[in-house]
Amino acid sequence: MMISRRGFLKMGLMGAAGLALPLGTLLIPLSRLATSKSIRSPSVEPFAVPLPIPPILKPLRTATGTDYYEMTQRAGRQEILPGLKTEVWGYDGIFPGPTVEARSGTQVAIRQWNELPVPVSTHLHGGKSPPKSDGYPTDLILPKGHERGPSGHAGRGGSAGEHSHYFKDYHYPNEQRGATLWYHDHRMDFSGPQVYRGLAGLYLLRDEVEDGLPLPRGEKEVPLVIADRTFNEDGSLYYPSLDPSLKEEPGTLAPAINGMFGDTILVNGAPWPYLEVSNTLYRFRILNSSNARYYDLALDPPPPGDKSFVQVGSDGGLLEEPVAHDRILASPAERFDVVVDFSRYRVGQEVTLKNLEGEGLTMDVMRFVVVRHEKEESTVPERLAPALAFPDPDEAEATRRFQFIAGGAWGGMSTINFRVFDPERVDARPRLGSTEIWDFHSDQDHPIHLHLVHFKVISRNGGRPARWDVGLKDTVLMRAGDDVRIAAHFSGHRGKYVFHCHNLEHEDMMMMTNFEVI
Ligand code: C2O
Ligand code: CU
Ligand code: CU
Repeated sequence: MMISRRGFLKMGLMGAAGLALPLGTLLIPLSRLATSKSIRSPSVEPFAVPLPIPPILKPLRTATGTDYYEMTQRAGRQEILPGLKTEVWGYDGIFPGPTVEARSGTQVAIRQWNELPVPVSTHLHGGKSPPKSDGYPTDLILPKGHERGPSGHAGRGGSAGEHSHYFKDYHYPNEQRGATLWYHDHRMDFSGPQVYRGLAGLYLLRDEVEDGLPLPRGEKEVPLVIADRTFNEDGSLYYPSLDPSLKEEPGTLAPAINGMFGDTILVNGAPWPYLEVSNTLYRFRILNSSNARYYDLALDPPPPGDKSFVQVGSDGGLLEEPVAHDRILASPAERFDVVVDFSRYRVGQEVTLKNLEGEGLTMDVMRFVVVRHEKEESTVPERLAPALAFPDPDEAEATRRFQFIAGGAWGGMSTINFRVFDPERVDARPRLGSTEIWDFHSDQDHPIHLHLVHFKVISRNGGRPARWDVGLKDTVLMRAGDDVRIAAHFSGHRGKYVFHCHNLEHEDMMMMTNFEVI
């Protein structure tokens, strides 16, 4: 089914007016439905390219408690598939963008230049940022030369939001515990295609607690930014935008309306790479930066008689104690900080990181090759971080309920409590310093993300949270029919923030709303 632009717009408006409520009744994983059958990426030999590591960004200067950085968002050409060049839109022209290394308690200021032909908004995901620096979807940095963006630039947000010209300075107080954060584009209506083109990078916030732990470090602390993409024959990225210039009409062709699923798995921007390791502990900072794909990560072969992964951190930083897993289920935007002990394999052995939820090529993610013996210098202590001072959920001041319904089946908008995103409407007003219980219900796969706050998952489908729900979260994985209850503590800043589905096609199809901390 293909929907004409007119038809698409009309359905969108109907959705917005609440006349046509999308009935999301799909009960099978979206990845089975949405893969484009006609476009297939050039084939790549798996496990043939080494894992690249994104460069660490250097501050321009450091002054009284603040590190100053600059990044330029621009097009770049990158060899992603061997022998082909791909145009990416990246921070400093690369995908993933450079990694920012920040310290808890030291501010970071980043001047973001926009040399792309479209507006951008840069969000630090997991950051407790003041509203002005949070990358609100309509707070745009207009491209160079656009004194006033054409209406299409503000998209369905109309003229809402604060526009900057050519550059914007973002301020991150970093008054929060160490954690694996990431930054990415958040332009209203176009986050899906803009992140897909490459606008995403890591922001590692470190602190003294982490410094004091004997976890693997240096070359043995490895970021793994996992993303799926589909490529055209000439190596260019394939994304089925209704308007590939990303200037006027938002949205995708029907097959991607519930998420763009690529057929090629990239880790740190390389297809199915390999990493040579010694037979020791390694720490992996895993980020699922995919637009829509969930990964069920496992090691093949699994270590004999033992769990594959020891999780030491989640979205919100270090866990109090490590949690062992055979598999890790990661929905888009979630981070898992895990340690793998390669001494359980013999030197010479190859260990594949699998995605048990994939099919065919997408069942593989990358490979580790144990190439040498080395003396072990790290351990995973039984105690990682001091107990969290998280308020007792029984003292919650309010309970709210949100239903997430995908619109894809009807080609319409995706909704929260049957309403589409309106930058002007606020659906919750938690008090600064309060704790609230939020109940989520999901008709399909929806990774739900709150800006500003970290939360705890307190129940899943009426029972205990899942093993991978552990720790402080800013994004929670939901499956079709899931009921998830979270306790969120609203602290740090007053102001208006969004929460939304992090399936970026759902987000662009308006499965987003505002809360305002008062
Ligand atoms: Cu990672 Cu509102 O985003
Ligand atoms: Cu966020
Ligand atoms: Cu969703």
